[in-house]
Amino acid sequence: MKRFPNKRVVITGAGSGLGRALSIEFAGMGWRIGIADINDAGAKETLKLVEQAGGKGETFHADVTAPNVVKAMADHFFSMWGGVDILVNNAGIAIGGAVGDVPLTQWNTIFDVNFWGMLYGCHEFIPRMKAQGGGHIMNVASAAGLLCLTNMGPYSVTKAAVIALSETLRVEVAPDNIGITAACPMFFNTGLLDDMKSTDPWIVEVARTAFQVGHPADLIAKKLIKAVAKNKLYAVPMFFGKALWWNKRLTPNLYYNLTAWLNRHGWMKPLYLKLARWGVLSK
Ligand SMILES: NC(=O)c1ccc[n+]([C@@H]2O[C@H](COP(=O)([O-])OP(=O)(O)OC[C@H]3O[C@@H](n4cnc5c(N)ncnc54)[C@H](O)[C@@H]3O)[C@@H](O)[C@H]2O)c1
Repeated sequence: MKRFPNKRVVITGAGSGLGRALSIEFAGMGWRIGIADINDAGAKETLKLVEQAGGKGETFHADVTAPNVVKAMADHFFSMWGGVDILVNNAGIAIGGAVGDVPLTQWNTIFDVNFWGMLYGCHEFIPRMKAQGGGHIMNVASAAGLLCLTNMGPYSVTKAAVIALSETLRVEVAPDNIGITAACPMFFNTGLLDDMKSTDPWIVEVARTAFQVGHPADLIAKKLIKAVAKNKLYAVPMFFGKALWWNKRLTPNLYYNLTAWLNRHGWMKPLYLKLARWGVLSK
């Protein structure tokens, strides 16, 4: 992290889960944290933990689905701090279910937070980072965006869009000294499932099972910060996530046709539950 001597980071969705774990991790490294969330109580609790970890921070009430709010957030931190070194576009929600069952309004809702929220962040922070001479943006996608889990279309598709956005930016803003990382963790235990909506209870059960045996958020936060420090485009912090991603890239037809065959025979759903129990979806 020597690239950033001023140590200023803004993290959306920092009032819980991964955003909170990243805040505490950055705080321990002496960074100043902009703790942005729609949930004020969660953001305040994160601020307390940041201060306990020896860091400094400030909460900012932000609904990332509102472009004017994201603009106000960028204005605020760039003017108060004289610049921002890292933006972590982390705020996200989960919606599952099959295409055709999930109401279109829910597709809009998840795109508003998971895709548009991150695009607004990039849209506002990139010109300001260009003007200050550089920076880094970590977009928190998911392994779901690489692997496209069955009956989890709304979530996977938004995360795939975030990966595509990150890949586009990686090249586009390279001349401006701005690094881009797409974070792609598998399941780990956070508050993400508390408000999860799904027309298919099976995928919720898979996620809950994987959460129970998964890594703690602080370990994922440490790995993601290391990836930013190394200016990696893809941060895939779990072993099986990497293995499945390789498998998909090497044999894409086999990857999807085998799963489709298992699904046709009614074997996919029980198998995925077993994989979740064994930690394959979270380790
Ligand atoms: N937990 C996992 O298994 C997992 C796996 C891969 C990726 N992710 C991603 O990690 C990110 C963080 O999620 P988490 O798992 O820590 O869940 P979480 O629910 O614990 O935290 C998400 C935070 O985002 C905030 N948020 C939601 N909508 C918002 C909005 N419109 N504006 C501002 N803040 C908003 C919530 O208040 C919450 O504090 C998400 O993008 C999620 O998709 C999570």
